[in-house]
Amino acid sequence: MRIVNYGSLNIDYTFQVEEIVRPGQTIAASKVSRFPGGKGMNQSLALARAGMTIYHAGIIGTDGLFLKEMLEKDGVDCRYLQVREDIGTGSAFIQVDRHGQNCIVLNGGANRMNTEEDCKRVLNDFAPGDWILLQNEINGVDRLIETAWEKNMKVIFNPSPMTNEVLQYNLSKVSLFLMNEDEGMRITGQADAEAILKTMAEKYPEAEVILTLGEKGSLWSDGSRIISQPAFSVQAVDTTGAGDTFTGYVLAYLAHGFSVERSLAVAAKASAITVTRQGAASAIPYRVEVEAE
Ligand code: RIB
Repeated sequence: MRIVNYGSLNIDYTFQVEEIVRPGQTIAASKVSRFPGGKGMNQSLALARAGMTIYHAGIIGTDGLFLKEMLEKDGVDCRYLQVREDIGTGSAFIQVDRHGQNCIVLNGGANRMNTEEDCKRVLNDFAPGDWILLQNEINGVDRLIETAWEKNMKVIFNPSPMTNEVLQYNLSKVSLFLMNEDEGMRITGQADAEAILKTMAEKYPEAEVILTLGEKGSLWSDGSRIISQPAFSVQAVDTTGAGDTFTGYVLAYLAHGFSVERSLAVAAKASAITVTRQGAASAIPYRVEVEAE
């Protein structure tokens, strides 16, 4: 079984601020940094650092070559990552406040240039039983879900960032959802975690769901059972990429055949380490650190 992550890569411009700017306000940042990021890239790196072999598909411009180098340094297979000279890499403008909380504005750039041909070319190389991981930060997600499902691949979907488009996708073709409470609320119309899981089981009876609840931890459900994992309490410096770390780690451990309980616990530890460091991709810990904690 092989895993391909077809997802975004961004250059993150992170502004450290006292408080997130309000409408009409002008504030000064105490520090500005350029970090590697993008939900797709972060999740591929987390999978790789958790010990999984992973293929990353997507598009960057030549300004994003350092992202490709970082992925390759950690062993991510980038044969399906296109480098284009005619378009800029996706970027994110991120404010991080004194509590480590963030808000993000995206510029899709190359992430939004995927064609039907690109999708076919990548998925042609994969076989029934292989896994595809998708987030909602590139164009063509609906086409990728359909094509992968037709090939009998396992479709894993993290509907982040949540948009109205997600509600139009054929989500009955998804085998595993990884989502936060807000995304779960938007997909089900329910207001609390248990009701979200119940409605997901009714709407998508074939799917498993992993629901992350921030400081309240995470829940896994296959519709008949619920497994709960508390979060680790740490002093947050920057929460950017914590959800992506969780996603990459939990998938890597599940793919390696570990139990749901162990996979959730390791993912919770890994994301707790990520929030104690600045940046997204560069903050993701290696398996040896997570196992040692
Ligand atoms: O999930 C965090 C990521 O969201 C950041 O790295 C940023 O690029 C945005 O995609």
